[in-house]
Amino acid sequence: MKRIGILTSGGDSPGMNAAIRAVVRCGIDAGLEVWGIERGYEGLLDGEIKRMDRSSVGDILHRGGTVLKTARSERFMEASWIDKGAQMLRTFEIEGLVVIGGDGSLKGGLELAKRGIKVMGLPGTIDNDLGYTDFTIGFDTAVTTVLDAVGKIRDTSSAHDRTTVIEVMGRHCGDIALFAAVAGGAECALVPEEPEDINKVCRKIIEGSNRGKLHSIVIKAEGTSTPSDKLTKIIEERTGKETKLVVLSYLQRGGSPTLNDRMLATLCGAKAVELLREESESKAIGTCSGQIVAYDLEEALKMPRRFDSNLYDLVDVLSK
Ligand code: F6P
Repeated sequence: MKRIGILTSGGDSPGMNAAIRAVVRCGIDAGLEVWGIERGYEGLLDGEIKRMDRSSVGDILHRGGTVLKTARSERFMEASWIDKGAQMLRTFEIEGLVVIGGDGSLKGGLELAKRGIKVMGLPGTIDNDLGYTDFTIGFDTAVTTVLDAVGKIRDTSSAHDRTTVIEVMGRHCGDIALFAAVAGGAECALVPEEPEDINKVCRKIIEGSNRGKLHSIVIKAEGTSTPSDKLTKIIEERTGKETKLVVLSYLQRGGSPTLNDRMLATLCGAKAVELLREESESKAIGTCSGQIVAYDLEEALKMPRRFDSNLYDLVDVLSK
């Protein structure tokens, strides 16, 4: 293999740049040409492909976002467009491709793998919703950002004896809410993986208030069934306590990656190059019990996600 490509796809996540840097610099060090594809699969279809050198990834390790840009591609859902994408890679004589993105992006990579491209998938998403890896690139930074917000919101919540519902991202996965609730000392976490019991949340707030705890933080994942504004009103009505809503939204996707995300991104990027150099079959690269792992791409994408219900129960115990 002489020439490899790299793209970022789907929602950006902090650490994507660190992964790009690792792939470019390790790739060049291994004697490969590295070509950057802009705007994910959209850019691939439109031929937005440029050669990268060591200096093109200078000064990006610590930056959020992605220098290659990203996009969600409707076109790449269709077989005929995927065929065109594979053809475009062949036109540029790119035999191996590193895809950094979430579930949908890696599934796109699998389709290219079925068309003869060697694809290495890196888990780039804040959601932590991929079953084959303990952590995804960007999750640690997103939770750290949420924790910073929780600390600030607690100050004002406590000054006014208020309840605050904080809505966090994660799509169908509750990990951002769960980890932020444990590490941020929230009264409750609401996650899509567990039944939504609003009365239990209200009881918790009232019981806390009876013990003299006059402010409460509820961290709610965006994927739970009751919309956040409605939930906030219900909590206010049922507890009789003033309740505010804060939606953290895209704030969670930006910012400089944490140590954990920089390390994970860098080690996954280096592993991707090592595997491409060996002309390995397509793999999904991630982490398991602190080690970098690589699984068959198709098998990895079938692995079910495990929700940590012990951690969920702990939120309750810790906030009694
Ligand atoms: O997948 C990352 C994520 O930030 C999710 O948590 C969120 O639901 C979604 O992307 C938002 O997507 P978009 O950037 O397309 O609005």
